[in-house]
Amino acid sequence: MGKEVFEKYESNIRGYCRKWPVELVSAKGSIYKDVNGNEYLDFFDGAGALNYGHNPEYIKAKLIEYLQNDGIVHSLDMYALPKEKFIDYFENKILKPRNLEYKIAFAGPTGTNAVELALKLARKVKGKPDIWAFTGAFHGMTLGALSLTTEQAARDAAGVPLNNTVHIPAPYSMGGNFDTIAYMKEILEDDHSGYGKPSAIIIETVQQEGGIYVFSEQFLQDLRAFCDENDILLICDEIQIGCSRSGTFFSFERANIVPDIVCMSKSIGGYGLPLAITLFKKDLDVFKPGEHNGTFRGCQLSMVSALAALEMTVNEDIPNKVKQKEKMVKEYLEREIKPLLSDNMEIRGIGLTWGIDFKDGKMAREVLDECFKKNLIIELAGREDSVLKIMPSLVIADELLLKGLEIIKKATMKVLKNRK
Ligand SMILES: Cc1ncc(COP(=O)(O)O)c(C=O)c1O
Repeated sequence: MGKEVFEKYESNIRGYCRKWPVELVSAKGSIYKDVNGNEYLDFFDGAGALNYGHNPEYIKAKLIEYLQNDGIVHSLDMYALPKEKFIDYFENKILKPRNLEYKIAFAGPTGTNAVELALKLARKVKGKPDIWAFTGAFHGMTLGALSLTTEQAARDAAGVPLNNTVHIPAPYSMGGNFDTIAYMKEILEDDHSGYGKPSAIIIETVQQEGGIYVFSEQFLQDLRAFCDENDILLICDEIQIGCSRSGTFFSFERANIVPDIVCMSKSIGGYGLPLAITLFKKDLDVFKPGEHNGTFRGCQLSMVSALAALEMTVNEDIPNKVKQKEKMVKEYLEREIKPLLSDNMEIRGIGLTWGIDFKDGKMAREVLDECFKKNLIIELAGREDSVLKIMPSLVIADELLLKGLEIIKKATMKVLKNRK
């Protein structure tokens, strides 16, 4: 039957397959293979869930061994050995060296669940219904998280009002001249502003779906101070930018700030397996047993792969490797791509997440299509999908990284030339 099965029986809701209409069958490292044996270079990284590439040997071996020994796979939140080992390693090798003291809650199984848990906790602790987020934010698709997500098409699909969220213009608004902190101060102090105090402010330190906007260290520090001064919790959504993508394990390390609540998912599972966790300062743990629940919070296979991924992070010093690859990408983009672009177009990024903002969704899509013709899988982000989003695995071989960048350059040249 082939691909028609999807078209005939699967809902119209399917999305990514429309950009890359191939039927995949296997994958290794940064290479996908389709059913016809064609190979595709992956600059999409499972939307950030595959920071260690496809089927990394180290993690795979641990998973196979675990399955072969009939290790427990499903256990809700009953105590289980892989979960114990994951928590212990996370505490001692990730949190303690960074002087972070957090409790961990398993939300499950996907990123939006970690956000829902964070929202529930923040409102329970502070007692205020509102949460503030920033324009351009993406935090998930379930109702609570969706109320924070700004993409209009996704919001329109909710079918109900998305309440109790206020979107504050991000610092890049108004051509980068917007003083977000001053604005928040003013609306909080003005008893005629119409705004109430929120329980929390949620932020991605680098807006990914919003179009690869890297918030400055100063802004993040000012935001932390603003939250402290006003008794507001700060939530960092690390779901896409965390797990070393920005060059440090937690992206907020760059600004030397400590959020009150941290949401993680995607690559925390290590192998593309589902895992979502919410971390919070110990004094915030006001939950009663079972107040937030879910059948798939305890996939022990995910715990096995998550532990192995953390071991890779520490043993191979992946954050440091990202910094080296960041240099390569940044230099290439500035040297080879920037001169091709018009003045209004921008290149933005950090670590191994970069965007070429064509300021024109149609043009960006044409570049994506050209890249796909050359067997490069790459995604779009941002306003009207105008940003080509470069997001390879963190352990991609340098030759493949360069190969992908060269495909992007040629695709950009072709599209821009056709436009002249
Ligand atoms: C920053 C951020 N938060 C939350 C989510 C939601 O995660 P999920 O799609 O696993 O529910 C995403 C997904 O792309 C994300 O990028």
